[in-house]
Amino acid sequence: MHSSLSSFTFYLILLVQAYGVSSASWGYGYKNGPQTWSGACQTGLRQTPIDIRTMDTDYALMDRVNFIGYDQVAGVTVQNNGHTVSAAGFAEWDKKPYISGGALDGKYYLQQFHLHWGQQDHEGSEHKIGGLSYPAELHLVHQKDGLSLGEALTRGDGLAVVGVFLNIAENGEPLAALSQKLNEVIYSGNETEIEKIRPRSLLPSLTDAFYRYEGSLTTPACSEAVQWILLAEPITVTRNQLEQLRKIRNTEGEEHESNFRPTLPLNGRRIRFRPAQYDRLRFCSSSYSISLFITVISSILAKTFF
Ligand SMILES: *[C@@H]1O[C@H](CO)[C@@H](O)[C@H](O)[C@H]1NC(C)=O
Ligand SMILES: [Zn+2]
Repeated sequence: MHSSLSSFTFYLILLVQAYGVSSASWGYGYKNGPQTWSGACQTGLRQTPIDIRTMDTDYALMDRVNFIGYDQVAGVTVQNNGHTVSAAGFAEWDKKPYISGGALDGKYYLQQFHLHWGQQDHEGSEHKIGGLSYPAELHLVHQKDGLSLGEALTRGDGLAVVGVFLNIAENGEPLAALSQKLNEVIYSGNETEIEKIRPRSLLPSLTDAFYRYEGSLTTPACSEAVQWILLAEPITVTRNQLEQLRKIRNTEGEEHESNFRPTLPLNGRRIRFRPAQYDRLRFCSSSYSISLFITVISSILAKTFF
């Protein structure tokens, strides 16, 4: 009895260890994909990504996002971490690039950017617009001024991620600096340097129109710490660049079948949309005028009384 109990315990420990190992090597496959991610990834109520549908979206008066220091040129380190390709090191620049405005509270410093994609053109982005996907999506991750990463992850507004959709076209400028180095980071663990990158080149020429909502990281532990800013205007990626991305390999040494997380329920959240221009016509003659009127009045009331 005693010996069988202890061998049972031993077996249990093995199981836990095996589970521990498999949960550490999360991915996007059948065995380690989003359905198997634990914690907030399963239980959270403000998860990302989402499908942006008109019925869940309100026009809102928000100031533009200011991209400060995004015109500088300096170096970053590119890494294949087995889940994506990410470029980091902006926080060590002399003038650290940051964002403000966009209904954010304070400054958020750029930490890194990375991409999500699929093997076919009809999928790849994490967010969807009216049920439709773009072939890829870029995430510029920013951390709130004065917080450590640990602190940022425990606050509802610790991070601000700017999401940019990628559209296939002839112009390869936006991803030029990165794509020249992609063949050096094909395998998980590979690392290389980009000597010169200008963060502004990763943004569309028009950043005035965007969607705004409260969400999470899209990878484990899916921390619900992100103020999302999803730019309405996409940037371009050439077919060649996209094919390069599709050759990037994951932790298991295989090409990513995809590395985007499926969309999740809003659970009552509303999405705010800032149009490129606040023209009177749009607000006064459209069916949105009443909801905008209410939004404006309630924000005035909120400022007056709270
Ligand atoms: C990338 O990683 C692979 C596998 O670990 C290794 O063989 C290769 O030398 C690395 N390439 C570079 C450029 O570091
Ligand atoms: Zn991402």
